Amino acid sequence: MHKLWSDAAKRTEPYVPGEQLNDPDIIKLNTNESPYGPSPNVIEAIQKEVSHHLQLYPAPDAEALRDDIGRYYQLDKEHIFVGNGSDEVLAFSFMAFFNTDARIQFPSVTYSFYPVYAKLFHIPYEEVPLNQDFTIPVESFFQSDGGIIMANPNAPTGIYLSLENVETIAANNSDQVVIMDEAYIDFAPASAASLVQDYPNLLIVQTMSKSRSLAGLRIGFAIGQPHLIEALFRIKDSFNSYTMDRLALAGAAAAMKDDHYFQETTEEIIRTREWLIPEMKKRGFSVLPSAANFIFTTHSTVKAETLYNELKRRKILIRHFQNPAIANHVRITIGTEKQMEQLLRAIDAIIA
Ligand SMILES: Cc1ncc(COP(=O)(O)O)c(C=O)c1O
Repeated sequence: MHKLWSDAAKRTEPYVPGEQLNDPDIIKLNTNESPYGPSPNVIEAIQKEVSHHLQLYPAPDAEALRDDIGRYYQLDKEHIFVGNGSDEVLAFSFMAFFNTDARIQFPSVTYSFYPVYAKLFHIPYEEVPLNQDFTIPVESFFQSDGGIIMANPNAPTGIYLSLENVETIAANNSDQVVIMDEAYIDFAPASAASLVQDYPNLLIVQTMSKSRSLAGLRIGFAIGQPHLIEALFRIKDSFNSYTMDRLALAGAAAAMKDDHYFQETTEEIIRTREWLIPEMKKRGFSVLPSAANFIFTTHSTVKAETLYNELKRRKILIRHFQNPAIANHVRITIGTEKQMEQLLRAIDAIIA
């Protein structure tokens, strides 16, 4: 810590992303990327954009892309905000909706970026313990002082909270903003985007990094009533007018329009997940019910840390968290069926 740092730089404890190793032989199952490339239409749209216009600034309010996302959810663009990855959209949301004098709530086991933003922006927070079975204790989220943020499906558990429960949380916090981070929702039963017309305090945040295979392009978005979207624009335009570059805007629009490719790849990932879970159970793992593109699992005899290290030695990278509540679990991204077969063979060797 340097004496020349600001208070914000001093108090912040940066988020540590999953390892990004350069070894091309690694099977990377640690950051929930898609094992499939993006739609070929995305590549074509980016190539087209590269040959035009790069000397010009991109559209600051990303109207065309917001139209495309809105069309998918049957909402107009006034209900949509876009940003440079959902991490940025989440950071803007903390600034737009949470205050330094009222405690927000999020689950004690959830996306570990939330406490980082809270500390950075000086927002007090309560980490609400999960139930024994890792489900969300819904009633503990009624009547929050400062607002609520949670991931649905939750990360890293993969457990899905029903729309009925999301609705009760929104209804019981009508004076605060409730943010549902739906990074993994396309692998789950249904998005709460259908509720935003009824709940002026509900903001949905999604990403194209997982189900749309675009982690490298950095596109996230928020869905909410126009007064919430306006607040996000106020923050963005006080920070950087052009958070999304021309290539990201072009690629994202093409991804939103290729519904066939999107359906095909998400269905394949769900199918692989449903095939993998019983295979893991046969090998002595218990696996939480997952509505995401990953599983969260623990073995009856092999320690999570050992599993992580032994798999890494065999060039398979998974995620292990130090948080004591989940230190004997690992999170494994659903890859292709072939990658999952390699994973199972490596597990068989480790267990033996
Ligand atoms: C729950 C959750 N929210 C948000 C993100 C951020 O996604 P991105 O910034 O790539 O859109 C992630 C990434 O892993 C996540 O797990």
